[in-house]
Amino acid sequence: MKLFVVAVGFVAVAGVAHAAGDATAGAAVFQSQCAMCHSMTPGAVGIGPSLAGIVGKPAASGGGYDYSPALKAAKLTWDAPTLDKFLAAPQSTVPGTKMPYMGLTDATQRADVEAYLGSK
Ligand code: HEC
Repeated sequence: MKLFVVAVGFVAVAGVAHAAGDATAGAAVFQSQCAMCHSMTPGAVGIGPSLAGIVGKPAASGGGYDYSPALKAAKLTWDAPTLDKFLAAPQSTVPGTKMPYMGLTDATQRADVEAYLGSK
């Protein structure tokens, strides 16, 4: 009986974590999909800008990075829905962005990587 209660509790917690995205799984997604261009160290510019503290920030506001005119003109704020839309399809969300990435089609992977970004 006790074991049953523990098992149900685990499923409930896993369900909640999944709905909000799993930052640990997101770290792995970030490593395989984003880290070749983006650093999580503040101010560290690679092919793309640093993504430290990106969630909630206005787009194209990171110092020291030469953003595309398109991203600057888009006047977006990286809240969760905007980030999700951009990561699913960067070029159609911000036509003219210079982020050379086709998009992350898996909604679970997007939620996970967004949770990871939000945890940094
Ligand atoms: C091949 C390189 C590359 C990959 C891979 C890549 N990006 Fe980017 N990213 C860029 C570039 C370049 C920009 C700048 C875009 C611009 O100025 O239009 C950018 C911009 C961004 C921005 C806007 C930053 C800001 O300060 O407004 C976010 C958010 C972002 N990328 C997230 C991601 C995430 C998350 C992933 C992985 C799922 C990813 N990118 C994969 C190159 C990349």
